[in-house]
Amino acid sequence: MGSSADISMNSGAGNSVDNGMSGGAGNGAGGGMGNGVNASAGGDINGGAGNNAGSSAGGGMNNIAGNSVDNNMSGDINGSAGGGMGRGGVGILGTGSCLPEKVLTNADLEKLVDTSDEWIRQRTGMSERRIAAGAETATSLAIRAAQAALADAGVDGSRIGLVIVTTCTADYYSPSISCQVQHAIGAPPCAAFDMNAACTGSVYGLVVAKHHIDAGMCDYALVVSAELLSRLVDWTDRATCVLFGDGAGAFVLGRTPGGYGLLSSTLMSDGAGANMITIPGIHISDLDIERRGGQKKQTIWMDGGKVMKFASRAMVSSIEAVLEKAGLSLGDLSLVIPHQANKRIIDNAAKKLQLGPDRLFVNVQKYSNTSSASVPIALDEARREGRIRRGDHVALVAFGAGLTYGAALMRWA
Ligand code: UT7
Repeated sequence: MGSSADISMNSGAGNSVDNGMSGGAGNGAGGGMGNGVNASAGGDINGGAGNNAGSSAGGGMNNIAGNSVDNNMSGDINGSAGGGMGRGGVGILGTGSCLPEKVLTNADLEKLVDTSDEWIRQRTGMSERRIAAGAETATSLAIRAAQAALADAGVDGSRIGLVIVTTCTADYYSPSISCQVQHAIGAPPCAAFDMNAACTGSVYGLVVAKHHIDAGMCDYALVVSAELLSRLVDWTDRATCVLFGDGAGAFVLGRTPGGYGLLSSTLMSDGAGANMITIPGIHISDLDIERRGGQKKQTIWMDGGKVMKFASRAMVSSIEAVLEKAGLSLGDLSLVIPHQANKRIIDNAAKKLQLGPDRLFVNVQKYSNTSSASVPIALDEARREGRIRRGDHVALVAFGAGLTYGAALMRWA
């Protein structure tokens, strides 16, 4: 397993700069969805083949795991070439979340394993977490979060043209949760797929969906992050079982006025740290068995100390990257919505970034670590608490297994 020193913040997949001219050369002058095959081959993920400067000439998925800057000019330029499919920006129009009702407190955990409320609060900032009831599934939470986000956005499910569900705790390997969400919300047949970028999933999903809309593939997209970690923790392992909770959060994306919406993003991975957090699937290696006390169990294992060192650095580098790419500085940030894995990780990063509590949203005390759902749940709560106003610069930042990390910066519309 790689040591934390092995982890380089720069070693993810290629960096790409989207100069916002994606529609011009790549997609030609076709209007609306008429770009057809060419648009989907070059435009849906990459923001236009051939227009990416930097080291990601390979295109395809490499560009997803890279840095992208959208200077919000894509609409203007696409608009003239692409016929009404790229004017203005793309951003979050509505948010929603769904938390199971059952609360598991630190005191409850004291009865399960050799731990204490004091240890958990001091080391993690967590006081309680939500646990799905027997009949609840990642899919059922995802559907309820999606419906809440659609209602918040005022967008009917029938207008959704892309559904992405981010999860590392899917109910089934197949079918995907996203296909079931697409059906449940009344979306017409459209693109739908699950994505696993672990705790960074919501940021990955947001950026991919944004580029899908930018490319003219659809007008509205739904990104849902749904996780049921309670089904994959070993409830006898105090090192992990106190850390996680269940929940789902969702974003509806669509067009925003120019200058608003997603301004820049960075998506990174570093597989040198792949062994730091694992949940076995079909394959369970000898090392996996050893780490699970000699048992062949599909439970989460984590080298917490190493992940913690990586996490604070990943948060700082990701925030700095999106600010730089958008031509903004730390002083311009109104609110940071970080992945809620540990209050100490958030505090360390905030100290380095000189962010006070007024510019940081924390709810880890209530829901603990809900993996990819934590950022959308936190964003939804921040909005309901009136912490976000039109024109605010809001950064979402996350890190997790893979290792993955990334951030998205937006001017709230
Ligand atoms: O979302 C995905 C990313 N995940 C994360 O970002 C998690 C990152 N890591 C962490 O948040 C922290 O590393 C933990 C909260 C998991 C652990 O905190 P730590 O300060 O790194 O503690 P530690 O693992 O170094 O353990 C310190 C002590 C150990 O005892 P000894 O060896 O000092 O005697 C552990 O055995 O605390 C012990 N310990 C516990 N004691 C009471 C570990 N878990 C518990 C527990 N209750 N639940």
